[in-house]
Amino acid sequence: MSAEKAAGTALNTFLNIEPIDLEYAGLKKGSLQGEVAVVTGGASNVGLGYARAIAWAGGKVVVADINGEAGLETERVINAENAPDTALFVKTDVTKKEDVRNLAAKAFEKFGRVDILVNNAMNMRLNGPVLSSPVDDLDQSYAISARGVMLAIQEFVPGMIERGHGIVVYSATQFHYCPPLVGGSIYTAGKAAATSLMMSLANEVKDKGVYVFCLTPAGVGRFDPSKMPPLPEGVEIPKDLPKITMPGFDGMIPPEAGGAALVYCLLHAQELHGSGIIINDAFMAMNYPYPNPSTVRKIDSRRLTDPELTMVFCNMGPGFAK
Ligand SMILES: NC(=O)c1ccc[n+]([C@@H]2O[C@H](COP(=O)([O-])OP(=O)(O)OC[C@H]3O[C@@H](n4cnc5c(N)ncnc54)[C@H](O)[C@@H]3O)[C@@H](O)[C@H]2O)c1
Repeated sequence: MSAEKAAGTALNTFLNIEPIDLEYAGLKKGSLQGEVAVVTGGASNVGLGYARAIAWAGGKVVVADINGEAGLETERVINAENAPDTALFVKTDVTKKEDVRNLAAKAFEKFGRVDILVNNAMNMRLNGPVLSSPVDDLDQSYAISARGVMLAIQEFVPGMIERGHGIVVYSATQFHYCPPLVGGSIYTAGKAAATSLMMSLANEVKDKGVYVFCLTPAGVGRFDPSKMPPLPEGVEIPKDLPKITMPGFDGMIPPEAGGAALVYCLLHAQELHGSGIIINDAFMAMNYPYPNPSTVRKIDSRRLTDPELTMVFCNMGPGFAK
């Protein structure tokens, strides 16, 4: 059995993924040759799709995740799918300064530099209402989102500015505030804080050769419904929501396709600087990034060759100067 096949088989059982080949989306192998990326939360679901897609496109990838077992398996599989020394796993809690510093040290030691930072880690279980959640959950949501993003930016972006070459991405959410369907007010508060940091960073690095955008993987992933947190009491999923897919429901975009969207955006980073992009136009209804429709503008809409994979480009909103 080939290395790819062996890797794919192992992944299907443990990491819950399919073999990856992004040519269907019009992407080319080697398009990210020479680039070194860090993907936080890269050992499962969306982040795993991102890490594998970057490697497929020829980049080196450092997977930073708090989950050691999945992280090591991710490193093994990406190397098997590509070539030895394509991936490096560094066990990292992005909320801890010493961990993020260690991540940078290990990445620089192995690959010499980092060109692409994908801030993707989050704890999706921080999913409660404002009125009844422990305030510690809010601290944790900010710690992973805002603090984790800022720590990573401070480790990796100075080198990018020095070389005049870099991209910073954040896995934002389509829920700028929390609709009753989701009940994740604490989650969205953390995401909003990190999105705000990214908007400011876009202004700070203007004209420095570093490009910054948010990519919202709306409805991307393969979830095990039994592992999802319960909906808040009294909340029911409306039966007539065919396209607005939620964890545990049908219609999710597979993580490999999410990876294709990321690679596409990385290759167009310069023109996307300061933007918020939603993978899955069904979620335009959520008025990302601001609840006031007049601040949201659909500036472009593209379709890769995969009919499942639509991307909507939105303004980041006030504060961003092109
Ligand atoms: N899946 C979606 O539909 C969707 C939609 C909008 C936004 N997002 C965002 O995309 C990102 C990925 O989503 P997902 O569905 O793959 O989530 P997930 O829960 O499946 O994966 C998150 C990963 O982050 C890791 N992680 C958690 N805490 C960490 C920490 N402190 N330090 C390092 N790693 C940590 C986890 O171990 C896991 O591997 C998240 O930021 C999420 O908010 C996802």
